[in-house]
Amino acid sequence: MNRQDAEALDAADPLSRFRNAFELPPGVIYLDGNSLGPLPRATAARLDAVAREEWGRGLITSWNAAGWIEAPQRAGDKIARLIGAAPGEVAVADSTSVNLFKLAAGALSLRPGRRTLLTERGNFPTDVYVLEGLAALSGATLKVVEPDEVLASIDDDTAAVILTQVHYKTARRWDMATLTARAQAGGALALWDLSHTAGALACDLNGAGADLAVGCGYKFLNGGPGAPAFAFVAGRHQAAIRSPLSGWMGHAAPFAFEDRYRPAADIRSLLCGTPPILALAALEVGLDLQLEAGAPAIEAKGLALCDLFIRQVEARCGDLGLVLTGPREMQARGLHVSFAHPEGYGLVQALIARGVIGDFRDPDIARFGFSPLFLRYTDVWDAVEILRDVLVSGQHRRPEFQVRAAVT
Ligand SMILES: Cc1ncc(COP(=O)(O)O)c(C=O)c1O
Repeated sequence: MNRQDAEALDAADPLSRFRNAFELPPGVIYLDGNSLGPLPRATAARLDAVAREEWGRGLITSWNAAGWIEAPQRAGDKIARLIGAAPGEVAVADSTSVNLFKLAAGALSLRPGRRTLLTERGNFPTDVYVLEGLAALSGATLKVVEPDEVLASIDDDTAAVILTQVHYKTARRWDMATLTARAQAGGALALWDLSHTAGALACDLNGAGADLAVGCGYKFLNGGPGAPAFAFVAGRHQAAIRSPLSGWMGHAAPFAFEDRYRPAADIRSLLCGTPPILALAALEVGLDLQLEAGAPAIEAKGLALCDLFIRQVEARCGDLGLVLTGPREMQARGLHVSFAHPEGYGLVQALIARGVIGDFRDPDIARFGFSPLFLRYTDVWDAVEILRDVLVSGQHRRPEFQVRAAVT
């Protein structure tokens, strides 16, 4: 393969027109859309309109007139179409961490008598931290086991198996249908963290029979820094699940101002406080782009970009100390690719200085994300050439690239 072949792939790419929907600084190859998605061009204008018209002129009437009060469910219904859920099964609210707390506690409420929450070692830290906090508060037991011990660890005390479908470091993908079936066969619920799935893979929650899920709005969904997250509760659980954060927006009738909490019987029971309207407006712009492109086309291109990157790195940098961390088979992975390198931190910093933005994950992982809506095959090609040049010239060893920043 040569660069002309990559150009031909770009010319034939059915998603190529979406690149122009994003603000991308010139000279940058952005391989970090899996961490913070870039700004859609339409977002700033939409935020301006919501601020000036809906907030500025409509004032409090916009809760009804501009549909603010339905925004968590409206955005949720859009996400539902991306992750194989039905309308009314997803709400947008809070952060992924907070939603995980609500749903893990909700899982305990759905499985009375069972007191164990099961997850894998090496899961994204916030997931484990949140479950630790919930266990301390509720008296439940948190069991953290090696990935290959998860199935055998499901027993008659397991209330929920809580896994991130695509691992944040390695991109290894759990088989959602198989894991869900095994959890349920043991009487437990399956709770999925879809932070690296939503907007990247053609996920089918209901096809897999999943019970509960959470996920992130600021990565592949391009909702902006700190965008609100989402929570999925399968329709069959909605009447019975209890959120521990019984705020007024989860009440059956928030504006009846009743003295006692009475949970909504639908997905609204997962809401807690007043929704962040500006942030929801920004997220919806990102979601509309996703829906226009369609999850199957996004997954297909994303995996093709990953495949090209892995093959090119091995062809061009094979003798330069990079070791692929995570699956090579496309069906077993998500849309980021990680290479271990003994000087990984300096390598990522040197690449950023050359305009190739990826990120570093301890202890030695250089991680590169392949967001299909704005990346080109030629970007992958060019990034690998720059990677080779950095390694061959030793730029990554420069002292200025060894200084650790607060956010990596
Ligand atoms: C798998 C996973 N879960 C959760 C989070 C964090 O979610 P939040 O910051 O919305 O709480 C991340 C962030 O990278 C993540 O990768």
